[in-house]
Amino acid sequence: MAVRLPQSESLGVSEFLRNTEASRKMANVMLDESNKSSLGQFMTPVCVASFMASMFDFDAQRQIRLLDPGAGVGSLTSALVARIAEFGSGFSISADAFEIDEVMRRYLPDNLQECRIQAELAGNSFEYKIFPDDFVSKSVQAISAARSLWGGELPGYTHCIMNPPYRKIPGNCHHAAGLKSIGIDAVNLYSAFMALAIELLEPGGQLVAIVPRSFCNGSYYRPFREFLLKRSAIVRMHLFASRKNAFKDDNVLQENIVVKLVKGGCQGYVLVTSSTDQSLADMSHVSFPFNQIVLPEDAEKYIHVPTDSRSDCHMYPMAVRYSLADIGIDVSTGPVVDFRHRNDLFFEPADGTVPLVYSCHFSGQRADWPKIGGKKPNAIAVNADTARWLFPMGCYVVSRRFSSKEERRRVVASLFEPELFPGFPAIGFENHLNVFHSRRRGLPRNLALGLVVYLNSSLVDACFRRFSGHTQVNATDLRLMKYPSRDALVYLGDSAESLGALSQEQIDDLLRKVIDEQ
Ligand SMILES: C[S@@+](CC[C@H](N)C(=O)[O-])C[C@H]1O[C@@H](n2cnc3c(N)ncnc32)[C@H](O)[C@@H]1O
Repeated sequence: MAVRLPQSESLGVSEFLRNTEASRKMANVMLDESNKSSLGQFMTPVCVASFMASMFDFDAQRQIRLLDPGAGVGSLTSALVARIAEFGSGFSISADAFEIDEVMRRYLPDNLQECRIQAELAGNSFEYKIFPDDFVSKSVQAISAARSLWGGELPGYTHCIMNPPYRKIPGNCHHAAGLKSIGIDAVNLYSAFMALAIELLEPGGQLVAIVPRSFCNGSYYRPFREFLLKRSAIVRMHLFASRKNAFKDDNVLQENIVVKLVKGGCQGYVLVTSSTDQSLADMSHVSFPFNQIVLPEDAEKYIHVPTDSRSDCHMYPMAVRYSLADIGIDVSTGPVVDFRHRNDLFFEPADGTVPLVYSCHFSGQRADWPKIGGKKPNAIAVNADTARWLFPMGCYVVSRRFSSKEERRRVVASLFEPELFPGFPAIGFENHLNVFHSRRRGLPRNLALGLVVYLNSSLVDACFRRFSGHTQVNATDLRLMKYPSRDALVYLGDSAESLGALSQEQIDDLLRKVIDEQ
């Protein structure tokens, strides 16, 4: 049995939400720890729930058909009912709450009952249904039935508010097969919940979701982005900039965004707001034309989340408009996967070996090799198994695939200079690095140095953060970025050559000078 706080028919709106918040905290303690991560039970604090509810429009209709999938203790529905009460009277609200977990469901009826009381106090009506079902299976069934010859009816929700579970969907599980059967290609539950909700909304219906930012980039999410952009308009995005952001009680270390979509809406400007954390104390607002959110020529359909209106931040300057292909450079993930070559690795260089470089060999803008006495090998044998994974000795640019959270910049690049490795014919780049090369050969030194300066600039960092919430930097991300012309990079390299190790200020000044001169 759920323990209730004392209730009264005359609770104020804030008291009512405080009650729901208290039951969220109680449920959090009661939850089975092992289910907590498998069911993604990171519940929304009341301040974030109220903020999400404030994003809906209610002008057009008084009949609200609300969907709350993965409802938990009902915090999001409660916040929406409170918001509507502030807005006015005469609304009739019917809510469908899906919640699979039995512990959460102990709290749900009381909280939804309280919603009914609050709605009535404001001159609105509220009725609800609780579905103790798996939202994915149930929705797939309903959508398939509606599309079949016999045409079952869909609820046609007008509003959906959600904080869905995040778990991955393995390719061989029943969820993946069901979703595929209705044309949804989702790699995890949060994108599946969003896609299903879009299907279940009526035209013009609104969805407000708090989800990880990861769907905005990465090839895995491309089908989902295409699905979303084809069926809905992005109206607003709010970014919680600190990683300990929206769910600070639960130690969730993901960058989260709140996104508002309108099904079948006409895509116009997108309002992008951001705040450091759930207090929303330092909220910034900027509107962007859609072609700065999804770049028109981007086949991957990355969704950029610009949080800053400064011109060098919300768009690459004109001088920086070239693809890597335009400037004759390729980027690849380091080809040596060390555990596949266990018997060929050496901690100290020996006859018949060539250098093997890991992230640890690049602490500054240049390489530091060998690191004797460290945890990582320094060399790899050259033989029939390894030769195809090695590059000929030359000048390369490397960037780490995994930067640490503490690192100031996401993209950290270094120069790999052959002079530091005299006498070796080849080089192994380990898999945690990205390598810039030219058809698997080295680059001219001044071009490589110019590229290092560019990649380490604040401009690249700002542009990278617009489409990625990860600390991970993939070769695909680097391939999708824009670069200065080859000549400009060479000029940048020539200018940097005489300066030695560069400070951030020097890097940014050099780049600005080159951009201004273009
Ligand atoms: C991230 S929590 C959010 C809870 C609530 N909406 C909130 O904002 O506080 C996700 C909820 O979805 C529920 N859930 C997980 N998988 C589900 C599924 N397949 N169908 C329905 N609910 C599910 C979990 O038990 C959990 O309560």
